[in-house]
Amino acid sequence: MSTRPRTPAPGTPAPGKLPITELAGLKASGQSIVMVTAYDAPSGRLADEAGVDLILVGDSAAMTVLGHDSTVPASMDEMIVLTRAVTRGARRPLVIGDMPFGSFQVSDEEAVANAIRFVKEAGADAVKLEGAGPTLSRVHSIVGAGIPVMGHIGLTPQSATALGGFRAQGRTADHARRLVDDARALEAAGCFSLVLEAVPAPVAEEITRRLTVPTIGIGAGGATDGQVLVWHDLLGLYQGQSPRFVKRYADLATAIRDAVSAYAEDVRGHRFPEEVHTYAMAEEELDAFRAAVGLRTG
Ligand code: KIV
Repeated sequence: MSTRPRTPAPGTPAPGKLPITELAGLKASGQSIVMVTAYDAPSGRLADEAGVDLILVGDSAAMTVLGHDSTVPASMDEMIVLTRAVTRGARRPLVIGDMPFGSFQVSDEEAVANAIRFVKEAGADAVKLEGAGPTLSRVHSIVGAGIPVMGHIGLTPQSATALGGFRAQGRTADHARRLVDDARALEAAGCFSLVLEAVPAPVAEEITRRLTVPTIGIGAGGATDGQVLVWHDLLGLYQGQSPRFVKRYADLATAIRDAVSAYAEDVRGHRFPEEVHTYAMAEEELDAFRAAVGLRTG
């Protein structure tokens, strides 16, 4: 028998990773699941150190870090780079790569190929897909390829134009009932969990009650099995208008702006760098250097 250490095969959880099967246990025990988005290695590491369970490398990156006005322009290549960075920083949390617009709409085959890229190239543990309807066969195919899938219904930002803008969903009885049907269909297609975004709390509660897999809410009230917030919203880094469901836990934009202004003032006022920030040189080496460049020594 070989004693060589073995690199985990793709699809094999790394040591210390939260087993995906424990999420159902958290739902059953009523312990809330904590998810945040992250887009780089330091935030992946900080989220891990803070004890979150799930990290979503959201296509919200298009808005929060790439400067677009919507999530639609996010590309597969960009999402792979960001997800790879997060998986380098995060150990215990499950890292979920968000499949960007265009990466799963065309066919089941393309959806599976792109989901495989998230796992093989970026080290993701799972992927997330928006929508129901045509998304169901994509979910089924990706799960069939051995990759766990998180669903996402309610406000699905990739189709915000079709939904009439970034607005709450499921506010009529008929639409709410369709959301319940979609949620059940996504569970039946194999999703291990579902994001419910911007839906009335009683609708989210009913979906949560009817599913065996955990629901993760954002703007869906307190009865879902877990909550997710976007990193930049939570930390006060996003300069645009945040939705009403955001709770800001810090004002890092102000802290960063103040720190960079103080640095700029110090540089312009010749207060930085100080002696402690510079490197010394042995006296004889300095003399030799000065002689070599034609300066007087002593
Ligand atoms: O892209 C994202 O950040 C998301 C969350 C808001 C759930 O989809």
